[in-house]
Amino acid sequence: MIVSGSASQALAAALAHELAEPLATVEYDRFPDGELLAAVPDVKSADTDRAVVVASTVSSDAHVELLQLQDALREGGVDELVTVIPYMGYARQDEAFDPGHPVSARAVAKAISTGTDRVLTVNPHERAVCDFFEPTATAVDAAGRLADPLPADLTEPVFLSPDAGAIDLARTVRDAYGRGETDYFEKVRHSDCEVEITPSDVTVAGRDVVVTDDIIATGSTMSEAIDVLDAGVERIFVTCVHPLLASNAVTKLSRAGVEAIYGTDTIERGSSVVSVAPAIAEEL
Ligand code: R5P
Repeated sequence: MIVSGSASQALAAALAHELAEPLATVEYDRFPDGELLAAVPDVKSADTDRAVVVASTVSSDAHVELLQLQDALREGGVDELVTVIPYMGYARQDEAFDPGHPVSARAVAKAISTGTDRVLTVNPHERAVCDFFEPTATAVDAAGRLADPLPADLTEPVFLSPDAGAIDLARTVRDAYGRGETDYFEKVRHSDCEVEITPSDVTVAGRDVVVTDDIIATGSTMSEAIDVLDAGVERIFVTCVHPLLASNAVTKLSRAGVEAIYGTDTIERGSSVVSVAPAIAEEL
């Protein structure tokens, strides 16, 4: 059966449909002191050998909820437990950046590992975070599907990534779209909300541009990248796997001239128009 964390209900339902497996009832509660309770009341009567928990760890609460769901399923007698973390929170903290800092991605991976037999995550910021899990952890690549919502009539499209690290994503989207050029911007990050972007060499005047990244969080990276594009650019589309879209990111991107933002349902937002359910189902 498929068991959903509260932040991944639409994706869990899509996955249940894709796999033709039952979607468990889950109850999410909060005690007066703020502590959480996530429960799967029907786990015993479900008489299931395998359970698949689907929970994006978009917040610390979502992380605790995932641990509770894993524990409730084991308590209910489930033999095989697969944990799907569509968006893995803390994955960007994959090293100790300053003396005394934790490797947060490793810390959360260790905790999740104690309750599962297998882990799947979708396009983690660095694939190496999979090594922090003790059971087998697989990175599912859903980037190709980001081309699906793009208009078929793009004019001499250019697929850009806002930094060198995301060029493979831009190439994947270009390949899935079927035509176009790729390039990337140079990015220097000064703080959480401040990045400096240097333009790419490719000519964009009179052409449609698609900028792709793994995550859009505050939208600073994307909006800075768009700001340095030639004024003669035609339409600008933004695609990402994980549309965190924190704070005023949507406004920032709209003001920068973006025609549409397309993301996947690893994080459930208005822009989550592409489902990663088929890619996860295939891997399962
Ligand atoms: C970092 O290298 C990531 O790939 C994204 O570029 C970054 O997380 C986006 O963050 P923001 O939207 O806050 O600039």
